[in-house]
Amino acid sequence: MAPLIENPRFARYFARYGARREALGNAELRAEMLAGLTGRVIEVGAGTGLNFRHYPEGVEVVAVEPEPTLRGKAQAAARPAPVPVTVVDGVAADIPAEDGSADAVVVSGVLCSVADVPAALAEFRRVLKPLGELRFYEHVRSSHALRGRFQDLADPLWSRLMGGCRPNRDTLTTVRAAGFRVERWREFSFPYGARFSVVAPRILGTAVAR
Ligand SMILES: C[S@@+](CC[C@H](N)C(=O)[O-])C[C@H]1O[C@@H](n2cnc3c(N)ncnc32)[C@H](O)[C@@H]1O
Repeated sequence: MAPLIENPRFARYFARYGARREALGNAELRAEMLAGLTGRVIEVGAGTGLNFRHYPEGVEVVAVEPEPTLRGKAQAAARPAPVPVTVVDGVAADIPAEDGSADAVVVSGVLCSVADVPAALAEFRRVLKPLGELRFYEHVRSSHALRGRFQDLADPLWSRLMGGCRPNRDTLTTVRAAGFRVERWREFSFPYGARFSVVAPRILGTAVAR
């Protein structure tokens, strides 16, 4: 049985406000992350299912979401999705899937919140087929000295309020250290124009298990 991650306060907040930036460019970024996927996809930490409507035709998605309130919202979002989406309970470090069974693993806004990122990435490698892809869209620590320091200062309170989300992780380095080859990626500021957002900059890309 998957360990329970219950966070009703964050779940209520995210269910209510999580979509507020979709019309400001976030929807296009999701579509960019998912473009060209084929086959069996495992999305980890699906939240309310905001990615579902952006999956390209032909994929079949298993969406893992540990938080019960968010999982319920994801199940509702799965019904009108343009591709088959099955929403299941589970956590990043213990995905209910066979070894080597996925063509791709998808994460957006999740590696900031997972407690043990190397364990999660090792699990992604386990479920991926050889040459399977990790598609990611994550916010990370800024390399700009002042903005990075701002994120460090915000981290204790932010993570307490935002369901364990850490604003100052160097996720790309961790992905590489876990044995993924990052094939394509770009870094940009989002929300667009924000200079001192806790959740900018962001990285979006594709990595393949070496
Ligand atoms: C900021 S939300 C992002 C939701 C969604 N991926 C999106 O792009 O809208 C973070 C999500 O990560 C999930 N999460 C947190 N810890 C997790 C873990 N250890 N395993 C899987 N999901 C986790 C949360 O329940 C939540 O749904």
